[in-house]
Amino acid sequence: MTARRVVVAGAIVADRRLLLAQRSYPPEVAGMWELPGGKAEPGESRESALRRELREELGVEVTVGAALKESVALRHDLVLVALRAHIEDGTPRAVEHRAVRWVDADELRRLHAEGSLVPADTAWVPELLADLAKR
Ligand code: C5P
Repeated sequence: MTARRVVVAGAIVADRRLLLAQRSYPPEVAGMWELPGGKAEPGESRESALRRELREELGVEVTVGAALKESVALRHDLVLVALRAHIEDGTPRAVEHRAVRWVDADELRRLHAEGSLVPADTAWVPELLADLAKR
């Protein structure tokens, strides 16, 4: 059996806005918006992986909270999960992405409707809209 690797993404909500990052590669998804994150290294916890990825990709220090319910099989050996995160230090900037932006519920719905979200991340839209309605 092949070990399953995890891609961990951060759901950062503050002031009723969600942080999205615009991919710069590969060509199929360049220009689309995602929850920022990346692959956990073997032996690395999801929480540590997310803290490391968000430090590298956005230049922020975060604390990590509960997972979103949906997880997405990217391939047979790769699963995508999202963890809620809270920025403790720093202002997000696009280090590896093309851009970052904070979106409210209407903007998230619009990006989803126009097909501008990375396909795998669309599974999280209902849960993210619920979070945006309460925080
Ligand atoms: O960002 P990175 O290229 O390390 O991501 C690894 C894999 O996870 C890629 O296939 C990417 O498209 C996918 N991914 C995703 N949604 C995210 C983050 C990564 O589908 N929010």
